[in-house]
Amino acid sequence: MKSDPNSPTFVCDEYGCHWQMTRIEKIAFHALVKKILPGNALEIGTYKGGSLQVLSEFSKHVYSVDISDEPKKALEALYGNVSFIVGDSKKLIPEFLADMKKQGKRLDFILIDGDHSENGVRTDINNILKYYVPESELFLVCHDSFNPSCRKGIVGAEWKDCPYVDMVEVDFVPGVYHYEAFDTAKPKSMWGGLTVARLLPEKRQGELTVHQSQKGLFDAVHKDSIS
Ligand SMILES: C[S@@+](CC[C@H](N)C(=O)[O-])C[C@H]1O[C@@H](n2cnc3c(N)ncnc32)[C@H](O)[C@@H]1O
Repeated sequence: MKSDPNSPTFVCDEYGCHWQMTRIEKIAFHALVKKILPGNALEIGTYKGGSLQVLSEFSKHVYSVDISDEPKKALEALYGNVSFIVGDSKKLIPEFLADMKKQGKRLDFILIDGDHSENGVRTDINNILKYYVPESELFLVCHDSFNPSCRKGIVGAEWKDCPYVDMVEVDFVPGVYHYEAFDTAKPKSMWGGLTVARLLPEKRQGELTVHQSQKGLFDAVHKDSIS
C-alpha cells in the first residue's frame, strides 16, 4: 500500500488500540491533550479506542459516547477512568450536559468523531454550543474536517451565535486524500483533518471568524474526489 498515511512511523507506536487518525493527527492530538491535561473530557465516537487511549492517559475522567455497545464491551475493562455511554449523541448530549451542570462538573476537552454526516456533525457541535456554558477554557476538536460532508457540518454550525467561542480553525491540521482504499476509506475519498475551537467563559468582543486556512487545498482536491 503506497498511500498509507501512517507508515513508516516511530511516533505513538506505544498505543495499542486501533486509532483512526493519520500519523500527523496522532502527533497533534497527543500534544494538544497532553498540554491541556483535561479534568473532564468528553469524546463522541469511541470505535476501537484510538483517541480514547490518549484521553484516558492525560485526563482525570473521560466520558466516551458511541451509538454501538461494542466499544463498551471491548474496552470497559481496560480503563478505570472512563464512563462509557451507549446511544445516539444527537439525542443524549443535551441531557448529558444538563447532568454535568447539576453535578457541578466542568468539561475541558471535547472530541467530536461520531456521526460524520453533515447533519450529524452540525447537531453535535450545535448541542455543545447551545447547552454548555463554559466556566473555564474549553477546547472543542472535530475530526475529519477534510471530508466534504463533515466539513459542511462543521462550517455550517452555529459558531457565531455562541458568544463564548473565541477561535475556530477548521484546518488546524489538514486532512488527506486516499487515492486508493485505506482502512474504512474508499478510493478517491477525503478524510482526516482536525478542527480546533476554543471557548472561554468571557463573552467575545466583536465578530468571530471561522478560519479555513486550507480551503484552497480542500477545493483543489475536492474536484477529484468521489463526494
Ligand atoms: C471514526 S469512528 C471513531 C474513531 C475514534 N475516535 C478513533 O480515534 O479511532 C466513529 C464512531 O462513531 C460512532 N457513531 C456513529 N454515529 C454515532 C452517533 N450518532 N452517536 C454516537 N456515536 C456514533 C460509530 O459507531 C463509530 O464507533
